[in-house]
Amino acid sequence: MIGLNDFKRQWADTGPEVLRAVEQVGSSGWYILGESVRRFEQSLAAYWKLPYAVGVGNGLDALELSLRALGCGAGDFVLTSPISAFATPLAILKTGATPVFADCDRFGLIDLDECEAILTSRPEIRYFVPVHLFGHCLDLDKLAAFRERFQLGVVEDCAQSIGAYWRGRPAGSVGQFAATSFYPTKNLGAMGDGGAVLNCKAEDAARIRQLRDYGQSAKYVHDVIGYNSRLDELQAAILDSAFLPRLSGWLKTRRKIAGMYLDGIRSTSLRPVGAPEGSDSCWHLFPVLVDPGRKAEAIAYFKSKGILVGEHYPQALVEQQAIPDRVRQASSRCTRAREFCASELSLPIHPYLHDEEARQVMAACNQWDSV
Ligand SMILES: Cc1ncc(COP(=O)(O)O)c(C=O)c1O
Repeated sequence: MIGLNDFKRQWADTGPEVLRAVEQVGSSGWYILGESVRRFEQSLAAYWKLPYAVGVGNGLDALELSLRALGCGAGDFVLTSPISAFATPLAILKTGATPVFADCDRFGLIDLDECEAILTSRPEIRYFVPVHLFGHCLDLDKLAAFRERFQLGVVEDCAQSIGAYWRGRPAGSVGQFAATSFYPTKNLGAMGDGGAVLNCKAEDAARIRQLRDYGQSAKYVHDVIGYNSRLDELQAAILDSAFLPRLSGWLKTRRKIAGMYLDGIRSTSLRPVGAPEGSDSCWHLFPVLVDPGRKAEAIAYFKSKGILVGEHYPQALVEQQAIPDRVRQASSRCTRAREFCASELSLPIHPYLHDEEARQVMAACNQWDSV
């Protein structure tokens, strides 16, 4: 089966280095917030060319801690993307604030024209969590202009976009904070949970360090209510010595496969969504759109061809049952996001996918018209 990831191939490639990283942490006798986390934080910030990186427990916490550090809480409104992992609105809801969903554009990304209209007419919205979805980079010039003009606290959700650029600038370089995830399927995924907060000033990095560790300013000195959300030494060591050094090569393969798909898929009833002009995308996912009435049939068709396709995501966030009514009332109807989700499928794209497998995926796409 051609899957959305291949962790067995990844292990065959990286196993010896991963085991060395485990050995190094084991023999150090230090398992929480030690040298490995410090070293990885420095390597990640240098790789991403962003000031400071602070390792935390996962991407959800990276978002929530960033919002907390900006002072976001009960009574606040946070503009955000209508299509994302549920973690994005969940982090907002966990601070006590209310997410406000704008609709999406034709790429499934938050529609920045609609954002401008919402921000202009609703001055009570003081925070913004734009998601660089699918590995695309949103228009950073517009994000920077919104931050300035509307005096926003901005947390860029970069869980899917390490390695994505907007006209030469990295995703994550506009907000007071950038939040990312090392969930195993991500472009830089750990062998378990992990996340990081980047792009902040020194004092804000210190604030995140405090929040991730029970709100301590020094050992056993608790100034604020914090969390237990520490990236652990094992994950940091594996990321730093086995995975981060491979990331540029992995992203090159993702871009190559995306290029093959964009050139080679000629179906009229299965259409690659593509990338917005100006985004140098890192292709975390490769979405295509099919007739919503035939989506289930398309998934079964690909499976019969030995190909697993994904859905990112089956529903727009406003449609999720866990979303409180007050959020739906505060949000756009998200009609385009609902339509996008009803039609979207994600083709396999990952660093260990062979060219021959990518060609099989393209052939299956091109035969879909005649099914
Ligand atoms: C866009 C987005 N934001 C946030 C997250 C949350 O990351 P995590 O699963 O590490 O909590 C994810 C990953 O699932 C994601 O894709």
